Amino acid sequence: MDIHVVTIFPELFGPFLDTGIVGRAIRGGIASVELHDLRDFTHDRHRSVDDSPFGGGPGMVMRPEPLFEAVEAITPPPGSPVVFLTPQGKPYTQRDAERFATSQSIVLICGRYEGMDERAREALGTEEVSIGDYVLTGGELPAMVVIDSVVRLQPGALGHGTDAVADDSHTSGLLQYPQYTRPAEYRGLGVPDVLLSGDHAAVDVWRRRAALKRTFERRPDLLETATLTADDVRYLRSLGWLG
Ligand code: 6GU
Repeated sequence: MDIHVVTIFPELFGPFLDTGIVGRAIRGGIASVELHDLRDFTHDRHRSVDDSPFGGGPGMVMRPEPLFEAVEAITPPPGSPVVFLTPQGKPYTQRDAERFATSQSIVLICGRYEGMDERAREALGTEEVSIGDYVLTGGELPAMVVIDSVVRLQPGALGHGTDAVADDSHTSGLLQYPQYTRPAEYRGLGVPDVLLSGDHAAVDVWRRRAALKRTFERRPDLLETATLTADDVRYLRSLGWLG
């Protein structure tokens, strides 16, 4: 898939795009990331991308002209998501990652300053997303979050013979169960016996219940939308769940 990023700080993306699973996917042709420097779409001597807000007030606003020209220069296939990264956006979820991951192209536009001109926002974007309820200085880290979440979902990105995506926290609608690796005892701390038993059915039951318990304790809101079996509901009620 092709990922386009519009930003005033393309240099922030370097090591991120070269490293780990994302780096390998890009080198392997599974994904491409094209960085578009917003200042390349300015025409004034100072290459200015912001200006003061009409009506007064603090801070600066991203000017519409460079944003329009940058997005028009990209020309993604019709229907491609054009996503503004802003704290005013809808909360980004795994469902959004799955939807973006199946698109041939996406365009990510990184907000900076106090916001962007509303006309650019309305005319150019198909949606706006936020990565959480806190304020960052710009949309570049959120764009990297979106890229990471979407690239790892590309077929082949996580390497062969792994079904890791199916077990992810949030893919199932639940948090992931606890994991252990060698040694079986470390500084007096053991591992649940069932995981060493070789009984795969018993391991599956233990993991399902551990995922349910962890989700109940940490993110009970997720239980409202998770797909639960009658067995799951019986177990959750035994923990005190009233859903
Ligand atoms: Cl997408 N942008 C900024 N500036 N801050 C954020 C955010 C985005 N998501 C959470 N905080």
